[in-house]
Amino acid sequence: MVWDGGQIGGGWAMTACGLDFGTSNTTLGVQDAAGGFRLLALDGPRTTLPTAVFFDFEADAVTIGQAAVDSYVSGVEGRLMRSIKSMLGTDLIDADTALRKGRISFRAVIGTFLDTVKRRAEATLGAELGDVVVGRPVHFVDGDPAGDAAAEETLGAIARAAGFRNVSFQFEPIAAALDYEQRVTGEELALIADIGGGTSDFSVVRIGPERRGKPDRSADILANDGIRVGGTDFDRDFSLATAMPELGHGSALKRAGLLAPKSVYFDLATWSKINFLYTTKALAELERLMRDSAVPEKIERLIGIVEHRQGHALAMAVERAKIALSDHAETQLALDWGEGSLALPVDVPGLNRATGLLAARIGNRIRDCLADAGVTPDRIDAVFLTGGSTLLPQVRAAILAEAPDARVVEGNIFGSVGLGLTVEAQRRYGG
Ligand SMILES: Nc1ncnc2c1ncn2[C@@H]1O[C@H](COP(=O)(O)OP(=O)(O)OP(=O)(O)O)[C@@H](O)[C@H]1O
Ligand SMILES: [Mg+2]
Repeated sequence: MVWDGGQIGGGWAMTACGLDFGTSNTTLGVQDAAGGFRLLALDGPRTTLPTAVFFDFEADAVTIGQAAVDSYVSGVEGRLMRSIKSMLGTDLIDADTALRKGRISFRAVIGTFLDTVKRRAEATLGAELGDVVVGRPVHFVDGDPAGDAAAEETLGAIARAAGFRNVSFQFEPIAAALDYEQRVTGEELALIADIGGGTSDFSVVRIGPERRGKPDRSADILANDGIRVGGTDFDRDFSLATAMPELGHGSALKRAGLLAPKSVYFDLATWSKINFLYTTKALAELERLMRDSAVPEKIERLIGIVEHRQGHALAMAVERAKIALSDHAETQLALDWGEGSLALPVDVPGLNRATGLLAARIGNRIRDCLADAGVTPDRIDAVFLTGGSTLLPQVRAAILAEAPDARVVEGNIFGSVGLGLTVEAQRRYGG
């Protein structure tokens, strides 16, 4: 089929859309015929697409989304990449990682992902996508305005290369506010909290049915702030406290007073860094560590995980246990190292101890955001919650403690940002 400048079925049908490229999940929305906003199916019938790319070495193919995760889990030889958004704004964006043949940069991995997302959305829609409003965290990186600007520029360039025509950005928490605003019936001062996989983002905004149609909303936005803390950081710190000690984290070396180096455990526990351990050099260092270690059997397990490329499987097990603890007091963390497995009992107090500092940083940043907006907590009418990590009880408590008298509004956990970006796309590019 020829895409002649978007001419489809005889009419000019370039559709504007909102794209929430998330650290963990991606959504894309358009306005429907009735004037409402909807997310398009991107992964079979599902509108929430795991932000995952799998380079399948056996079939010499690339898959994305749940299929990517499934291929990796089923043991297909290849390379899984998750948390690729975390590379934006860092020097790692142009670093490359080894494939079976050759290497690929993270910029190109994000490009492959967004290309496929666009094609899938167009197939669902039956029309070509043209202009896009892409979500961005308030800060891709903490305390680094140049890094933030570079991240946005890189993401914009990748989206244009994927074939989007005009590409512009909106802050993710403002997008969430626009989604919430679709359903409010009166004027409100709202605190929006979007706690995702990679970042936590906040806005203090005035919303209301009369304000919805205004072309310029800048006066309604009292403050925007964010921090590079998200669910993947909770996974990392929980892993460092539970799984990693079973692999020798914090263990002694034979030489008195020395401990196993932390960096290898940190990388293995960090979604975006796992693949960095899959090199001959890293393996050689682990072999050396095993010779020096006072607990070589644990380092042997660690080597097994790295050799069998089980780093993501381990991170998934930790994430599963974290999620289970959102509605159970205790659970088991299933660790499997090939020649033996271990079910480690974990509980909510343990999770809270391991990740308490992260939750506290989220709460502190909300306090700063309110101060920035010049409002006291009692002025907030509603706290709007979106993003998967608002399901963590400790995170929720940290947010709500900053506006204790406000009404709590549950957003669409994985969809509000994408829907709000779609509202914005319609405002900027529609009709
Ligand atoms: N029930 C749950 N309890 C706790 N955490 C959860 C739950 N469900 C999902 N999560 C976490 O939510 C995170 C993903 O949330 P979400 O999809 O909102 O992030 P994202 O939009 O991809 O990331 P970001 O906006 O930071 O780029 C993951 O870290 C996941 O582990
Ligand atoms: Mg998000």
